[in-house]
Amino acid sequence: MNSSTRAACVIGYPAKHSRSPKLHGYWIQRYGIDGEYRIEEVPPERVEGFINNLSANGYVGANVTMPHKDIAFRLSEPDEKARAIGAANTLWLDGDVLRATNTDGDGFVGSLDAAAHGWDARTDNAVVLGAGGASRSIVYALLGRGVGEVHVVNRTLAKAEAMRDAYGDGVKPAQWSDLPDLMKSAELLVNTTSLGMHDQPELDVDLTALPGSAVVSDIVYVPLKTRLLAAAEARGLTTSNGLQMLLHQAVRGFELWFGVCPEVTKEQYEMMAADIPGS
Ligand code: ATR
Repeated sequence: MNSSTRAACVIGYPAKHSRSPKLHGYWIQRYGIDGEYRIEEVPPERVEGFINNLSANGYVGANVTMPHKDIAFRLSEPDEKARAIGAANTLWLDGDVLRATNTDGDGFVGSLDAAAHGWDARTDNAVVLGAGGASRSIVYALLGRGVGEVHVVNRTLAKAEAMRDAYGDGVKPAQWSDLPDLMKSAELLVNTTSLGMHDQPELDVDLTALPGSAVVSDIVYVPLKTRLLAAAEARGLTTSNGLQMLLHQAVRGFELWFGVCPEVTKEQYEMMAADIPGS
């Protein structure tokens, strides 16, 4: 690395299994950028100092993952999106100012644009399973793309209600027992829970009631084809998976750090998919 090399990193604890260096490394090579993307496994007692000295540590920006998302939000100047979602996953230095944004929602809709072109023109009614951090960014992005009603199904109803309070009446809190009925008019069904992830309980939903034109998406990417997506494919529905979202959410950070808006390619998807067990 010479003095003109720009470097970004992912800050987490643990972080050594992060897939981000591989996906950003692909773009660094593809666009011939004098850049690096590294893993920084930083324990909680050192993270504040690390983020406050990002530039002195050699970085122009970073992704932030568990368990450091809250502190990164507090130590930075979050943009409107990150403030609305209440979490940031991407940091960049704007002169001396450390700014933050949240790229998950845009990554999600970017993956839908790629997998189901024109989905937003057809979608006025969506069902989102889960009301955690990932759900907040996805629901915010869906409302931003003009989806009229987003039914948020969650075990803990209060979290779905809090989302309605924050984002307005386009959010419709619901229980799991409401799901069969809600599916009848859903043009989009999204799983944002950890159900279906390897080591987690399966997500068992009967998709029979969904319209034949519905799109089904799962943010889980290990395995790549969850039981939900397999059931959707068996019905002939359009699907998008969590790896597509992972790739698309990385676009904005790369652009902020390295000055090029990168394209998610089929070759990159296949390279990343090859590393996912069971794919
Ligand atoms: P993330 O940041 O990835 O969204 P999270 O904030 O921990 O993770 O949210 C996990 C989501 O999965 C929540 O909606 C959670 O439901 P609760 O809010 O009721 O906890 C949902 N979830 C996790 N395990 C679940 C289970 N066994 N059954 C139903 N929902 C589950």
